[in-house]
Amino acid sequence: MSPDPIQEIEAGLLAIGDEYRQRFATALTEHELRNVRADILGKKGALTRVLRAMGAVPSDRKREMGERVNAARAEVESAFETRLVELRQALRQAELSATPFDLSLPGRSPAPRGHRHPISLVRQEILEIFKSLGFETAWGPEVEHEVNNFTKLAFPPDHPATDLQDTFWVRVLGGAPEARVLLRTQTSTVQVREMTRHSAPLAIVSGGSVYRRDDDVTHSPMFHQIEGLLVNENVSFAELKGVLTQFVHRLYGERAVRFRPSYFPFVEPGAELDVACVFCEADLSTRASCRICKGTGWLEILGCGMVHPSVLEHCGIDAERFTGFAFGLGVERVAMLRYGIPDIRILFENDPRFLAEF
Ligand code: DAH
Repeated sequence: MSPDPIQEIEAGLLAIGDEYRQRFATALTEHELRNVRADILGKKGALTRVLRAMGAVPSDRKREMGERVNAARAEVESAFETRLVELRQALRQAELSATPFDLSLPGRSPAPRGHRHPISLVRQEILEIFKSLGFETAWGPEVEHEVNNFTKLAFPPDHPATDLQDTFWVRVLGGAPEARVLLRTQTSTVQVREMTRHSAPLAIVSGGSVYRRDDDVTHSPMFHQIEGLLVNENVSFAELKGVLTQFVHRLYGERAVRFRPSYFPFVEPGAELDVACVFCEADLSTRASCRICKGTGWLEILGCGMVHPSVLEHCGIDAERFTGFAFGLGVERVAMLRYGIPDIRILFENDPRFLAEF
């Protein structure tokens, strides 16, 4: 038996009435509300389905049933409009009562600002100290001739530093075999270049990258040095001591220094300069266990000496008339001591968390 179309329509309208009232009231956005409306009045909506039963309604009831369906549609439409106005008003109200946007606030920059690398900061600081002591800044290339790196600096031809184990040699295509080229192992090359180009008197400092086949917690295959050279008439070891002691005091504050005899082929006499350990000096009870100075109380910070007369002669300077002193120091070592950095490699990994500390 087919269901009574009138009953079917009445039940449908009743269900629709319950559904739209409840769903319109709980819709919280205009989008949700419009979806509910489509579920009821749309092409595949609930009311459209009810209308399909109209065909089977006896003709004497058609008009009445048609009016009831139309009234239901009008009711849904007007409830929709009412709720729409309500939602729009609530939205506007929320906007008006929200914390006001402050147009006078400064803008946000898109990325944090960068700054110099700690190695560059320390190098700059050291060069500035020597500039203030009257030294001029000079530069030299990182790819060098063997003569500037070793020969003119009086390294004997079979010196172990020239060994493949220590030096990165560069093969120059088509180059003469005797004109050997390397990545400079020290900034002392700049001494040779400056003396050859300018003759004496001169006072220069230079800083830059140097390369050696070394790789552990305190050695990196690429590191940075600062080199200094002063040549004039009557320069003695007293001037060397005076300038370098002044330098240490400006860099580390007034603390004890000592000069220890040492050997470098291009100076005579040669020395290493130690400064009183900045870590355990203040509390001597910690000295024995100090890992930085290894309990000695001294930190070695640079090599220095009186320029060997043969180096002056190799660079065209009259060694009877002129004397001079030179020194070289490692920038990483100064930075590591200054900031308590235990492993040199941290300086080159460029982890932003490390760099942000400077
Ligand atoms: N070039 C040396 C090195 O790399 C450091 C050095 C020592 C430089 C003594 C000098 C000096 O100018 O006089 O180990």
